[in-house]
Amino acid sequence: MARRGHLPSQSKSNGLEGISLDLRDEMINIENQFNVTSEKLKRISERFEEELREGLEKEGSNLSMNVTWVLGLPTGDETGSYVTIDLGGTNLRVCLVSLKGQREEIDIKQQACRLPPTIKTGDAETLWDFIVDSLEEFLKKHQLTANRNDRLPLGFCFSYPASQDYIDHGKLKTWTKGFDIDGVEGEDAAGQLRDALAKRGLPLELVALVNDTTGAMIASAYKDPDTIIGAIFGTGCNAAYVENVGSIPKLKTSLPPETPMAINCEYGAFGNAHCVLPRTKYDIIIDDQSPRPGEQTFEKMSAGLYLGEIFRLVALDLYEKGLIFTGQNASKLKEPYILETGLLSALENDPLEACRIRLEECLGIKVTLDETRVAHRLAEIVATRGARLCACGIAAICRMKGITSGHVAADGTVANKHPKFKERWTEALGEILDWPKDRREDPIILTSAEDGSGIGAAVISAMTLYRIHGGNTDGIQAR
Ligand code: BGC
Repeated sequence: MARRGHLPSQSKSNGLEGISLDLRDEMINIENQFNVTSEKLKRISERFEEELREGLEKEGSNLSMNVTWVLGLPTGDETGSYVTIDLGGTNLRVCLVSLKGQREEIDIKQQACRLPPTIKTGDAETLWDFIVDSLEEFLKKHQLTANRNDRLPLGFCFSYPASQDYIDHGKLKTWTKGFDIDGVEGEDAAGQLRDALAKRGLPLELVALVNDTTGAMIASAYKDPDTIIGAIFGTGCNAAYVENVGSIPKLKTSLPPETPMAINCEYGAFGNAHCVLPRTKYDIIIDDQSPRPGEQTFEKMSAGLYLGEIFRLVALDLYEKGLIFTGQNASKLKEPYILETGLLSALENDPLEACRIRLEECLGIKVTLDETRVAHRLAEIVATRGARLCACGIAAICRMKGITSGHVAADGTVANKHPKFKERWTEALGEILDWPKDRREDPIILTSAEDGSGIGAAVISAMTLYRIHGGNTDGIQAR
């Protein structure tokens, strides 16, 4: 198993004794390309910190460091019912979230559907119609009605880089996670949804546009006061934390400098200048063939949308060199994005024979047990690098803010479903932050913010309405 930054060398213990010498050599070569040592992790994290600071300093920096107008963490006493919509990378989810206060259990009714590929690459009108259709169906199903003067509050979780002049506004900088929808980039996504709702006459009032990272942090903080950061390790990757207004030089505001402000880092874009991240030829292919080459460099090396694809490209390389699946027509292996990150989780989790069958099903060819062992090892190599890189961003935020303990509330399929992510991430974080090796406990712990988007959007909507009622309308546009 991978330990402290050193991918295991080709020792007898890795189960690859039976493979050819050529394949063994190639595996060593791949391991070396994907290995991120402790020293390298530290260098990446230092550069990360510089980019975080630059983003707070000035507009137009590589990391957007978007102010969110979420002024601090919730008390846990927020109450009320809120409709939320979550446009993630894979699914569209509509929820009715009832907050009960006193950091208590939250009641959620929800409806989710997978986003059809045609939506992801279509036009703005089709996207908003699709969302409004889902909302309308949900309102009907749950018999949610309101009159025009008393519309239901809606929180919109929009998990893309949007700069926010107000909490109920979000100008999309660029699509990420393979989305390529015409007519939204450079525009206010909240305004477009608001118009679509009005056109359909739905009794909803968009109160807040929320990034999923801010949602995860706030949802977690509602119950857990030790929350320090909200992070997504899913289809995409990113994190949010709380800054003081006085430490955001680019923000011109009359708010007192000690006012807390949640920041959506948008750190999937880290390393776009390509000076520190250890990119392999596979990472370069992924970037070149993506709808937005040159963007989201860090995300393309570490997030769930890409791990399966990196694995596929490495496996394809081995196949084309005649080292695996020899004499077979592995044409499926040539189809971009055919292998999902779930396969990598399964390869590390399931018994060898089950993995072999799964590979045969995915690739439509015969797979030997030795080839399955190779696939297992590749899955380990790709996922280990991803988890270790993911620790760099969180370490950088902690160092910049002088945070030494607390909970990082994480959501996303990689964090929640990959069997080894948490362990590898924690180990790498300890290496970067020089935690003692014989520690009894980890000072910074990854906790689960499952359902952060729905609950977070609801709690943020509640916080916003409370602010409006209290007469504090800084950064609030509507009303
Ligand atoms: C988006 C972020 C989002 C992250 C996780 C990235 O592609 O730019 O806004 O938080 O994915 O979903």
